[in-house]
Amino acid sequence: MLQFKVHKAACTRCGECVFDCPSRIIGVGEDAFPAIPAEKATSCIRCEHCLSVCPTGAISILGYDPADSMPVEGKYPDPVELETLIKGRRSVRRYREENVDPELMQHILDVAWHAPTGVNARQVTFTVLDDREKVARLRDEVMAELLRMSQENAIPKSMAYFSRFVRVWERSQVDLIFRNAPHLLIASAPKGVACPKEDCMIALSYFELFAQANGIGTLWNGLVKWAIDELLPDFKTRLGIPEEHQFGYAMSFGLPAVRYARTVQHTPALINRPL
Ligand SMILES: Cc1cc2nc3c(=O)[nH]c(=O)nc-3n(C[C@H](O)[C@H](O)[C@H](O)COP(=O)(O)O)c2cc1C
Repeated sequence: MLQFKVHKAACTRCGECVFDCPSRIIGVGEDAFPAIPAEKATSCIRCEHCLSVCPTGAISILGYDPADSMPVEGKYPDPVELETLIKGRRSVRRYREENVDPELMQHILDVAWHAPTGVNARQVTFTVLDDREKVARLRDEVMAELLRMSQENAIPKSMAYFSRFVRVWERSQVDLIFRNAPHLLIASAPKGVACPKEDCMIALSYFELFAQANGIGTLWNGLVKWAIDELLPDFKTRLGIPEEHQFGYAMSFGLPAVRYARTVQHTPALINRPL
């Protein structure tokens, strides 16, 4: 049920919702107000562009009241601030030994979940280890399994570095895989949606930037991804990642024990401009 509703006293019949609908299913009803014919309802991708574009807040869909949306006009961050965030974001590998405030964590996850997804599938699932004890337990188990594999020569040559990381852990309790981060986030999505991998990577990118804007450090964690997704797939089940999901990527996060004073400097972008 789309629950497409027009507040007629507020609607100016400007046609913006009609023109902006990506599926072009909003037409003009008998009363000259916007309407979605019943037979076209299944083509709605639930993007809410109609609710978002309406200048007077006259459109409601999926039960959402436009008055509950955040106003956008004049509210975007200053481009220089955003540039500083993008250039100032760092991979954080030193963390404080404490959990992130659960409400803040929930808020960042909810905001990141606004990231775009192919055909508006919105099926990305965040698996979160929300307590540092849980990450420590997982880390201990992963290290033990990697040690076993290393001793049995079961780690593929292309991933031989895992044997070294496990030895470092054994010898000095220095964690080169999870980096002692108090939290771990894994994004996964059903293999059947249009763009599972891309949806996960975009959601994690949004999570990372919004987390860092909130003072939370993040680290794209390829080592955890490879360890769990490729070497030790049983952990996917243990973590409750559905069988039919593609493992998108892993991201460590937590309160940083490091402050970066300035941005790094990169060469100009590699750009190809054909003809
Ligand atoms: C897809 C991806 C996977 C990564 N995996 C790891 C990892 O497993 N461990 C790690 O310490 N850093 C990892 N990184 C961080 C990169 O090393 C880091 O982004 C790069 O050195 C640039 O540093 P910066 O992020 O601070 O700008 C990863 C980054 C990306 C984008």
